[in-house]
Amino acid sequence: MAKLWGARFEGGPAPELAALSRSTHFDWVLAFYDLAGSHAHAKALAAAGHLTPDEESAMHAGLDELARRLESGELVATDDDEDVHGALEAALVSVVGPELGGKLRAGRSRNDQIATLIRMYLLDHADVVSRELVRLIDAIAGQASAHPDAAMPGRTHLQHAQPILLAHHLLAHAWPLVRDLERLRDWRGRAQASPYGAGALAGGALGLDPAIVARELNLGEPLPNSIDATSARDVVAEFAYVAAQIGVDVSRFAEDVILWTTREFGFARLDDGYSTGSSIMPQKKNPDIAELARGKAGRLVGNLTGLLTTLKGLPLAYNRDLQEDKEPVFDSVATLELVLPAFAGMVETLTFDTDRMRALAPEGFSLATDVADHLVRQGVPFREAHEIAGALVRFCEERGLQLHEPTDADYAAIDPRLTPDVRAVLTVDGSIASRSGIGGTAPSRVAEQLAALTAAVRPL
Ligand code: ARG
Repeated sequence: MAKLWGARFEGGPAPELAALSRSTHFDWVLAFYDLAGSHAHAKALAAAGHLTPDEESAMHAGLDELARRLESGELVATDDDEDVHGALEAALVSVVGPELGGKLRAGRSRNDQIATLIRMYLLDHADVVSRELVRLIDAIAGQASAHPDAAMPGRTHLQHAQPILLAHHLLAHAWPLVRDLERLRDWRGRAQASPYGAGALAGGALGLDPAIVARELNLGEPLPNSIDATSARDVVAEFAYVAAQIGVDVSRFAEDVILWTTREFGFARLDDGYSTGSSIMPQKKNPDIAELARGKAGRLVGNLTGLLTTLKGLPLAYNRDLQEDKEPVFDSVATLELVLPAFAGMVETLTFDTDRMRALAPEGFSLATDVADHLVRQGVPFREAHEIAGALVRFCEERGLQLHEPTDADYAAIDPRLTPDVRAVLTVDGSIASRSGIGGTAPSRVAEQLAALTAAVRPL
């Protein structure tokens, strides 16, 4: 196929150069966006008088024919094609002839083209990712509302800390995903700006109106600086960051699922359809979805760091290094589009052993803070209350008792202010109900946050 450049070169490119330079094996996914850009560009050319009305319609017809050939699989990249832009232009020339086909490139460069197409691709996939995020958030919220009073041990440092509601814990994994949705929405505003019309770097000289292209492509305003428009990839990196953050947020939940489904925890069971077996150990049921989600978070972070590293030392304006923006971010998209549906299915079908969770909730003296809080409500300074509760824990630990089990006399011996009415707060439900501050684990507060979460969730 005819190259986009070559006149000033004596021979063709060395095969090693061609092999290194070629990007069609990954940028072919941009082919339909490239055609949409060409339709829009043809309109701008016609509006500026560079194409007659007849030429314009022949151009659109030729581009439609290319779309048909792409869809049918007739049009594929050949080894001679450097990138998707060159391949499609060569194909256009073969459909509409060199006279008309040769006119489309006027006033545009692959530099402003590619900067636009990657935005279009990411905007579309941000929609897909956001729908999958909503499904996952709904799955978590569904489990939370199905278990309004299930209690469990809340942990810090992975040690028993204070009893909490399972719903509260689950929703703590949903809120970061809601913020990821907000991040995508906010990113979208920046991603919608249009680089088309910036040319190679210095802007257009043919009187084309970039607003026509932007409007046709459903983008926002043309970018105000042609150098920035063709050379910056912060919008791509920002998408890669949000993708990495989603990966990390899902991975944190994955780690809980992996722990909860161990024999030692025994808090949750995976549905057969969402767990895997072992090739040698017949009894095994493994949390592979959670593990792959956790593993792929590393890959998403790697895509972000790789891309940022590519960008960090680049001089203005376009440099070929920028071709390296695509594979990592395409991989991030593909990874999320695989992980999120599987993870949502796993969460939707998870079952909980709520009796076991409740039984373990008060273990490890997790009600000790309730003793201290009770004393504070009686007017004891917290530092002293902490000491008294600590002495009670020690007393109980030495004798193998729970906090409510010492006699009234034992309480009094530990401290006269430790009166028997303390036992009223030494229940899991009492402890949970008492944490009724904003955002707390009391059932009324958890119901409130579930309603707030549901109201906050909407796709882009
Ligand atoms: N394939 C390139 C990219 O992905 C776009 C082409 C720009 N090439 C050039 N020689 N100016 O960034």
